[in-house]
Amino acid sequence: MDTLTIARPDDWHLHVREGALLKSVVPDTAGQFARAIIMPNLTPPVVTVDRALAYRDEILAAVPPGATFEPLMTLYLTEDTPPNEIQKAAECPHVHAVKLYPAGATTNAASGVRDIKKVYPVIEAMEKYDLPLLMHGEVVDSEIDIFDREAVFIDRHLSPLIHHFPKLRMVMEHITTENAVTFVTEQPNNLAATITAHHLLLNRNAMFEGGLRPHHYCLPLIKRERHRHALVKAATSGNPKFFLGTDSAPHPKGAKEAECGCAGIYTARHALAFYAEVFDRADALAQFEGFASFYGADFYGLPRNEDSVTLHRQVVDVPETVDFGGVAGVPLRAGGQVAWSVS
Ligand code: NCD
Ligand code: ZN
Repeated sequence: MDTLTIARPDDWHLHVREGALLKSVVPDTAGQFARAIIMPNLTPPVVTVDRALAYRDEILAAVPPGATFEPLMTLYLTEDTPPNEIQKAAECPHVHAVKLYPAGATTNAASGVRDIKKVYPVIEAMEKYDLPLLMHGEVVDSEIDIFDREAVFIDRHLSPLIHHFPKLRMVMEHITTENAVTFVTEQPNNLAATITAHHLLLNRNAMFEGGLRPHHYCLPLIKRERHRHALVKAATSGNPKFFLGTDSAPHPKGAKEAECGCAGIYTARHALAFYAEVFDRADALAQFEGFASFYGADFYGLPRNEDSVTLHRQVVDVPETVDFGGVAGVPLRAGGQVAWSVS
């Protein structure tokens, strides 16, 4: 199979930042995807519906003429989020979920939640109004090994959440471990998970190949090969609980190649091609459309896209750098090639 036509896909986890950087990255996503769940971890974070709507306008203004792209907005959950903001969000046609960041877990997560029990009344409102909870599923305790933080989050926080809020729709974002795959698989259908291209393509050796590789540093960290293997199996299984979310997270080159470098990998420009490589290598191209184009929309209760994209088995060069609004950014596989192209 040298060409593959699928319903236009959506990206269910995306960072586009603000200002000049936003303007430079939105076209990469809008060229492939019809919609994307937009992460709210700006500084300051997007905590109100009004702010989410203003942010949506900024994104729409960056969509190239002729392209159609719908940003699906989210709110950033804090210990001060009032339950009535949840009702407002649920009634707003442009807000689709609320994101839980454990405080300090990742980029711009300082205003996140320290004590999950404190936000139970807000989560109760989300269950009542059927607004999905998206989770950065890692604990932050310094005594927990950083490679174990996802597995510990499942035991300590996700299991109790599921028990307390049996009707709440939840997405464990960017899962990285076999533990998460098994857990999500075994739970009822109101728990789903997104999987990134980089966690499907790389194992943790990629962070240390011949030296320290800051452009392979993201959170949650890339894990061992057996975990990568479990993620590939889940993504290509046809199980609708697993769907595409790039977590494409642009940081200027200088902010990654630094004494204390930022977490985040930029994959948006060749996102679909990266995923197609994974499915192709797993001999599972027949499952690609479900993962990329159907299961996320079904989970969020949105219509499947009616138009399509065509992928060709054709090698494409990945540039050494991309423009992040006047500064350089380094995409995944910079200076290398991808095996598929998108028309
Ligand atoms: C993301 C970012 O840079 O905003 N970074 C990352 O490593 N994935 C935040 C996140 O999703 O954790
Ligand atoms: Zn993210």
